[in-house]
Amino acid sequence: MSKLSGVKYVRYWHDRHAKDGAAYVGNIHKPEDVWKQGERFWQAIVNAIEAVSMPDPTHIVELGCGVGRITRLLAARWPKARVTGIDITPGALATARIQVPEAKFINNYRIPFSVAAPDLVVTCTCLQHITDPEVYADAVRSIKQRSKRKAWLVMLENNRPGPRAKHMAERVVEDYQEDFSPEFEVRSVIEYGSRELDKEPHAVIVARKGGN
Ligand SMILES: C[S@@+](CC[C@H](N)C(=O)[O-])C[C@H]1O[C@@H](n2cnc3c(N)ncnc32)[C@H](O)[C@@H]1O
Repeated sequence: MSKLSGVKYVRYWHDRHAKDGAAYVGNIHKPEDVWKQGERFWQAIVNAIEAVSMPDPTHIVELGCGVGRITRLLAARWPKARVTGIDITPGALATARIQVPEAKFINNYRIPFSVAAPDLVVTCTCLQHITDPEVYADAVRSIKQRSKRKAWLVMLENNRPGPRAKHMAERVVEDYQEDFSPEFEVRSVIEYGSRELDKEPHAVIVARKGGN
């Protein structure tokens, strides 16, 4: 049995995707809101990136890309970059391959050795769902070790302590900061929360590896 098929919560995402299709992302129930929410997440990501001087990336990896709503926007913003999306849910990847034909998609729970080293890693509401400590440690390690010597990391993740739903981990900005250190140094944090569709506060964290 591969490590991926042994990941306990894989079935949760598989079932959620089978039930709700594209609308499984972000716990929202109207399919048209899926893409709207993706665009708002994207705007928050762009605001955080623009607060630092990040060079244009050449290879972007999005871990937990789901149906590709952020992958699509990454590919559009940096059309010259190679873009790779990674996710544990094959059904979501099937949609992503149609949505973003210019990107490559891989079924995995972390960045595998077969993927060329990225200079930008993006996660959008992915790490917050990794509840298995071993899988989380592997995913974090893969980002630290597999990224280029000089690389950037942009995470939009939940930022709220307290009891969470079964599929949510209880991490806040300081936890991510510690988990990605010393390789990645945080350059900007933008608190983000929308009452309209996502009732939970998030933060966009931009971190740099191999600084001057
Ligand atoms: C809430 S969705 C977000 C999808 C996408 N980032 C977006 O914003 O549209 C979370 C995604 O993370 C994926 N996921 C959860 N744990 C993962 C892991 N260890 N590695 C890769 N993907 C993972 C799930 O399959 C799901 O597609």
